[in-house]
Amino acid sequence: MAVQFRPLSFVLGAEVTGVDIRKPIATDVLGEINQGFLQYSVLLFRGTPVTRAEHIAFSRHFGEVDNNDRAQRIRHPEYHEIQIITSKIKTTTDPNAFAGQVWHSDQSYSTQPAKATLLHALDVPPIGGDTMFANMYLAFEALSEPMQKIVEGLHAVHFGGKARLDNSTPERAAETARQNLPSAHPLVQVHPETGRKSLFIGGKVKQIVGMHPDESATLVQFLCNHAAQPRFLYRHQWQKEDVLLWDNRCTNHIGLGDYDRAYPRNIDRTTVKGLPAGYAYSGPVHYQGPRL
Ligand code: SIN
Repeated sequence: MAVQFRPLSFVLGAEVTGVDIRKPIATDVLGEINQGFLQYSVLLFRGTPVTRAEHIAFSRHFGEVDNNDRAQRIRHPEYHEIQIITSKIKTTTDPNAFAGQVWHSDQSYSTQPAKATLLHALDVPPIGGDTMFANMYLAFEALSEPMQKIVEGLHAVHFGGKARLDNSTPERAAETARQNLPSAHPLVQVHPETGRKSLFIGGKVKQIVGMHPDESATLVQFLCNHAAQPRFLYRHQWQKEDVLLWDNRCTNHIGLGDYDRAYPRNIDRTTVKGLPAGYAYSGPVHYQGPRL
């Protein structure tokens, strides 16, 4: 049976049928999946009870899978490529309670932002806990031409994802400090495969390189609000055993915390590494808030 794509919304997302991602995948079939990935940006493989090994094996078709060295606290003890997203450890006083609950593109705070992310839903609440996606190509294209010209010349500073402090030697302390610098990236990205331009902005962006704090805050706020308009969005309502794959190079996402904590929300995540990009930002910092 040929691979088929059923669009999930007008602007992005498609459900894929006609392939079993738990089995070895022929090159031509993989090519079709990749075409769908580039066209729809978010792909759903509904009701696919993958094992952790199968989840990792499927993820590897899209590139090198991160082994979560920077996220050891939440990686699976045996399958290091799997990050555990769970409602269990989260309370409202936990600083990580709302991790993922801000619009973002994965690992944008680093100098190697993620290419793709794959989630596998193990337990989902009966109501709420959806994940929303924004089409950042459309967000860029919908800006006026003068505004497109302005943002194309700017770099944004992304905060978050601190590596653990290791001050055991002066060299290690210096390396940790370097790794924990925020990263700066062009506000407009050119997708390496489709060639289309997209906005690279989100809740982890706290300033624009070279701007005064008030200019920066106003522009960041405008662009974040702009990109989160309903006309650019797909909202994924999880079903148990869904596998969702998305392209971080042209989408933003947000995990919603609007569900009853009496119900577990357990999701396995793998992250496919992207290309090295941007630079560690060591200029003046306006943002003094908590880790994002
Ligand atoms: C993520 O940001 O990778 C997770 C989103 C979610 O939990 O829905």
